Amino acid sequence: MTDISDRKDDHIALAMSPDHQGGGVSSFNQICFEHNPLPELALDDICTQIQFLGSTVAAPIIIGAMTGGCDNGDLINQHLAEAAEHCHIPMALGSQRASLELGLEQNVRKWAPTAVILSNLGATQIQEHGADLAQQAVDSVNANALMIHLNPLQELIQPNGDRDWNKVLEAIHQCCNDLSVPVIIKEVGSGIGPTTARKLIDAGVSWIEVAGRGGTSWASIEMARNESAREREIAQPFLNWGMDTAALLPALKQLDASLKLIGSGGVRHGLDVARCIRLGAQMTALAQPFLGPAMDSTEAVVEKISILTEQLRWAMFLTGSKNLDQLTIAPLTDEQI
Ligand SMILES: Cc1cc2nc3c(=O)[nH]c(=O)nc-3n(C[C@H](O)[C@H](O)[C@H](O)COP(=O)(O)O)c2cc1C
Repeated sequence: MTDISDRKDDHIALAMSPDHQGGGVSSFNQICFEHNPLPELALDDICTQIQFLGSTVAAPIIIGAMTGGCDNGDLINQHLAEAAEHCHIPMALGSQRASLELGLEQNVRKWAPTAVILSNLGATQIQEHGADLAQQAVDSVNANALMIHLNPLQELIQPNGDRDWNKVLEAIHQCCNDLSVPVIIKEVGSGIGPTTARKLIDAGVSWIEVAGRGGTSWASIEMARNESAREREIAQPFLNWGMDTAALLPALKQLDASLKLIGSGGVRHGLDVARCIRLGAQMTALAQPFLGPAMDSTEAVVEKISILTEQLRWAMFLTGSKNLDQLTIAPLTDEQI
């Protein structure tokens, strides 16, 4: 096994522990819908379908980026991909860096021939290798879009992480111009705020996955892996660094109405999905909540998607929202906004 795939296995094991999840605090709990005791519709009338990247998907729920599929990740990705195909929801791959570097076959299209699949590479790989590598990542899985993740805090805490972030924006701009598919920029748990979003929009980015604070904490996970007491002491004050997902969504929506948003980072159930949609997101993504089911079986992932969708439908029913457009204007209670 390589260093990268060893690291990936560590990440998967540590991400399963509640110790590395948002400190139990989620700002989503402060977002309260006005209860509608007179919904004037039947639960069966509710439609959760939405258009995403030119395809109709069953719900605004993306299986969040976790593994590019090498070693143990391949079985996890098989379960995720088969469930995405079965349930008609999109799936984001984790970083394909290791698979591309090792020349491994990427199997996701065997399991999900028609699902919306999102490729994934880190910003510093794009910075180093340019749009050609990005196109290779897309072509290797016939992806519908490329996700580029921004993870400067994780790289700082990670032993031998990438410390030179010069010219990343230029590389993103190049990908937006040169790639055959749309580019989605995401964080991994510290969030993307309005100042960065403005730069990304100007570089040609039309989709941002906020991946804010409140869910999986990469600072916490990398601290647990770092054997240097000195580096852990330096990292300590940054454990809660970042911006909350629920606060970021309205700020980004206000920035530019044409910007499309994926709400993520601490989305833990279908009510959080509904909250993200109400706060301005078109789609949502959940990573860690799918990890346990994915380590089990395809059926377990299908069941998880079904529960999340049912929770979303309940939230829509209890706000009298027949479709996702109506959910975007469902009243919130004054004191909680
Ligand atoms: C085990 C695991 C591995 C991850 N690997 C990647 C990755 O390779 N690329 C990426 O963009 N994000 C990666 N992420 C970050 C997630 O996509 C997501 O942005 C973050 O975990 C916040 O979402 P959550 O709170 O729902 O987990 C990973 C998350 C987990 C839990």
